Amino acid sequence: MAIRNIRLEGDDVLYQVCRPVKTMNDHTRELINDMFDTMYDANGVGLAAPQVGVLKRIVVIDVTGEDPIVLINPRIVETSGEQTGYEGCLSVPGKSGQVTRPNYVKAVALNEDMEEIEIEGTELLARAILHECDHLDGHLYVEKVEGELVDNATDEDEE
Ligand code: NI
Repeated sequence: MAIRNIRLEGDDVLYQVCRPVKTMNDHTRELINDMFDTMYDANGVGLAAPQVGVLKRIVVIDVTGEDPIVLINPRIVETSGEQTGYEGCLSVPGKSGQVTRPNYVKAVALNEDMEEIEIEGTELLARAILHECDHLDGHLYVEKVEGELVDNATDEDEE
């Protein structure tokens, strides 16, 4: 178990386009395990590789605390509906802001064994998938916030 340093807003690494993962190896498996450790340690529901300084298209998500998901080279293939709600990010600690996103998302990705998978989500899971995929293209949710960022009462649901 290793907890990695979470990069914060303003760090150049958060504004880069990440590279696709071509093959799985021990190094990348270790990265994925560390991303989960880092996310859980920070009480987050999602984390993208650039948030720990690695420019690879890998995200981890767990919106329930019991359903860990790894998405490698994820691609959003379908969205519908709309949801507006408060969103946070482990790279912008202690803050949240209102963001409107699709309420449903379907993505295709590779799993840890580099097998193609399809994932569908609504509500918080949809929000998390979209938020993390944005990280892989160098975007932070703060670009999408309607109104002002506010101080969090708690640090729940940071991504
Ligand atoms: Ni985030």
